[in-house]
Amino acid sequence: MTAKIKPSQGSPYARILGVGGYRPTRVVGNDEILKHIDSSDEWIRSRSGIATRHWAGPEETVAMMSVEASGKAIAAAGIDPAQIDAVIVSTVSHFKQTPAIATEIADRVGAGKPAAFDISAGCAGFGYGLTLAKGLIVEGSAEYALVIGVERLSDLTDLEDRATAFLFGDGAGAVVVGPAQEPAIGPTVWGSEGDKAEAIKQTESWEIYRGRTDVSDVRYPAITQEGQAVFRWAVFEMAKVAQEALDRAGVRADDLDVFIPHQANMRIIDSMVKTLGLPEHVTVARDVATTGNTSAASIPLAMERLLATGQAKSGDTALVIGFGAGLAYAATVVTLP
Ligand SMILES: CC(C)(COP(=O)(O)OP(=O)(O)OC[C@H]1O[C@@H](n2cnc3c(N)ncnc32)[C@H](O)[C@@H]1OP(=O)(O)O)[C@@H](O)C(=O)NCCC(=O)NCCS
Repeated sequence: MTAKIKPSQGSPYARILGVGGYRPTRVVGNDEILKHIDSSDEWIRSRSGIATRHWAGPEETVAMMSVEASGKAIAAAGIDPAQIDAVIVSTVSHFKQTPAIATEIADRVGAGKPAAFDISAGCAGFGYGLTLAKGLIVEGSAEYALVIGVERLSDLTDLEDRATAFLFGDGAGAVVVGPAQEPAIGPTVWGSEGDKAEAIKQTESWEIYRGRTDVSDVRYPAITQEGQAVFRWAVFEMAKVAQEALDRAGVRADDLDVFIPHQANMRIIDSMVKTLGLPEHVTVARDVATTGNTSAASIPLAMERLLATGQAKSGDTALVIGFGAGLAYAATVVTLP
């Protein structure tokens, strides 16, 4: 006889309860980037919108930045860290395959014995993590989940590559997701286009180190990209994904308060705002100017800054969309914590 399995009991809905961020103390201006590439401050600002970014020092590890951001998110959520049942860390710049850095972070934030794992979804990583967290809470495997996007992309930057040297930054953003009595995280529109995966990639795999004792002639694997192809894809395809997320959430552009797109390039952000026809009253995150592209950390960092500076407020309706390596993407509409 087949035994009857009880269904799991989750919360009807989930919401973001608190957000926190950590930016490394060292601010790197375009002047420092220009020591290595033939370019100009004017070119970098006009083509990317980036004026400064933060680069981590030796002490500002992936774990340290995550713990700092998480502590603030947990405090903002007003929960005891021991209530966290799941820790999801999205990163491409933690260099150990195992154990998951999520386990160390979970321990250091005082989360007890939660499920803890890392995901790799590049710049879509925050949206992927948020979607997983919502699923766990609604399905009943977690009551509270900590979602962290964290990167030390300076470790993966080729300072001599004109196409990328100025783009990347480091930092961590974290949110606590918990139960809700009404919808506060909309349906996620997500996916990947593996046929274009080569458009953003590491120059080498870690395989280059296999069996070698002297690696002095080996170039450290860096992130490289086909800038124009990625730009076109982001501008044309991601606006459609963002619109679909609005449609599926039943939210019109007019009803939106805030737009938090992945912070990759100011021109991509401007183009999406135009294509989506966002009205003037919508606050647009433009954190890329002083944070650069921090991949999985970019959306929670931008969210935290908008709330901290009063440009957005708790309860606002925000469209978030991340996109990048893979080429993976994820968009959803959320109520801000
Ligand atoms: C990287 C990016 C800013 C480059 O801007 P772009 O306008 O596409 O630049 P292009 O590569 O077409 O180059 C345009 C010109 O600038 C020059 N150029 C390239 N890099 C330069 C630099 N760092 N400084 C000065 N000139 C540069 C090129 O040589 C080219 O000159 P030419 O017209 O004489 O041939 C842009 O492609 C981009 O932002 N792409 C998407 C990046 C992104 O979001 N990636 C992450 C997604 S998660």
